[in-house]
Amino acid sequence: MGGATAANQCEGGYLEGNKGLSTVDVIPAGKDRFPVALGKMKMTECDNEHYYPNHEAIDFYHNYKEDIALFAEMGFKCFRLSLSWARIFPNGDDAKPNEEGLKFYDALFDECLKYGIEPLVTITHFDVPMNLVKTIGSWRSRKMVDYYERLCEVIFNRYKNKVKYWLTFNEINMLLHLPFVGAGLAFEEGENEEAVKYQAAHYQLVASAKATKIARKINPNFRIGCMLAAANTYANTCAPEDVWKSMEKDRENYFFIDVQSRGEYPNYAKKMLEKKNITLEIEDGDEDLLKNNTVDFISFSYYSSRLTSADPKVNAKTEGNVFATLKNPYLKASEWGWQIDPLGLRITMNSLYDRYQKPLFIVENGLGAVDKPDENGYVEDDYRIEYLRSHIKAMKDAVNEDGVELMGYTPWGCIDLVSASTGEMKKRYDFIYVDKDNEGNGSLARSRKKSFYWYKRVIESNGEDLE
Ligand code: BG6
Repeated sequence: MGGATAANQCEGGYLEGNKGLSTVDVIPAGKDRFPVALGKMKMTECDNEHYYPNHEAIDFYHNYKEDIALFAEMGFKCFRLSLSWARIFPNGDDAKPNEEGLKFYDALFDECLKYGIEPLVTITHFDVPMNLVKTIGSWRSRKMVDYYERLCEVIFNRYKNKVKYWLTFNEINMLLHLPFVGAGLAFEEGENEEAVKYQAAHYQLVASAKATKIARKINPNFRIGCMLAAANTYANTCAPEDVWKSMEKDRENYFFIDVQSRGEYPNYAKKMLEKKNITLEIEDGDEDLLKNNTVDFISFSYYSSRLTSADPKVNAKTEGNVFATLKNPYLKASEWGWQIDPLGLRITMNSLYDRYQKPLFIVENGLGAVDKPDENGYVEDDYRIEYLRSHIKAMKDAVNEDGVELMGYTPWGCIDLVSASTGEMKKRYDFIYVDKDNEGNGSLARSRKKSFYWYKRVIESNGEDLE
């Protein structure tokens, strides 16, 4: 048990230590955020009209020691973090890696290990060096596979004695929904966006398999996982058309993990691409590579279940969701419209385990909520405790009642950080309050919330004491 973060949402220091500009650094807060994140509005540099919340984020870059000490105080056994690609290869195509960036992660891992906290590393979590977007169009180019491979060689060699668990791409299915966030893709007027996205997906899948192959060569003890933005899609009614539709929706996501875990494109995926008139450019050797380098475990994020209907008239979508979903009348929702469904976690775990028969790792889960700290920064976040308690219970049921193999649980984000979808600070998930607001004001001081003490007891009792 532990917690999860991503470099782009917590580090800040966006040009410090020779770091290059990343995709996430040019995604502003405010009304232009979604057009940029969707790849509909091109933003290749930062300007003075926008505010970019990731530039400073919570300044984990300078505060990581203090923050990791707080994680240790909660008793974390595991800390999920991601590497900023542009900190290691500032332009993505540099002849040599940036030693300062590598040293930063050395120090960070050492700090974790000092407390007996096992790092779980996402190789890339929503970031691509901006230079690769400008020069080759990011993941629309096959050259990305080579650059990613070089990144992997460097980090696997450098950190082979410090890190054992690796995830190749955060929420790999996100590239279908937020293509600039997930893959640095921006579109030209009139082009076939789906074709670009699925081709980029193929390159990421090839890159993921290559990473797995290199990892095993460099250190056979490494464990490599894929990472899915998961959640089963329910059918709105028992009409077979609705049930069919929900199956199709789930397959949009399984598409990626089926390849990463089973090693080939399933027939439904081939047929789906055929119907869309998309012919993937698959090189000789790709299929063998995918087949022979499947992942060891399935990691996923789960926040909310999804709901769909075959009836186009039924369109009362919930707000704020990257994944379009209907309102489920049986569920309450967060202030951002994310529907709260602990049993949905058990259902999702069972579906994934039935399908892949590999150990699962829940690497994100949580409630984004507005916190109201007192003058000492203390937050009575019973709503968060309630959300996590009910999800941990569901997770235990999946393990104890259903026999699902679960490697670990790292709720999002453990310390307040910038929201990936909205760029807000006020959408907080975490045990540690950070004094910073949506406009970038605040002292960045850290303070413990009520959930901090609760989670400490949960970890101490290995999930037995949930009260
Ligand atoms: C996942 C991402 O989609 O959900 C995280 O991997 C993200 O990066 C998290 O922060 C919560 O979403 P949001 O948009 O509320 O920050």
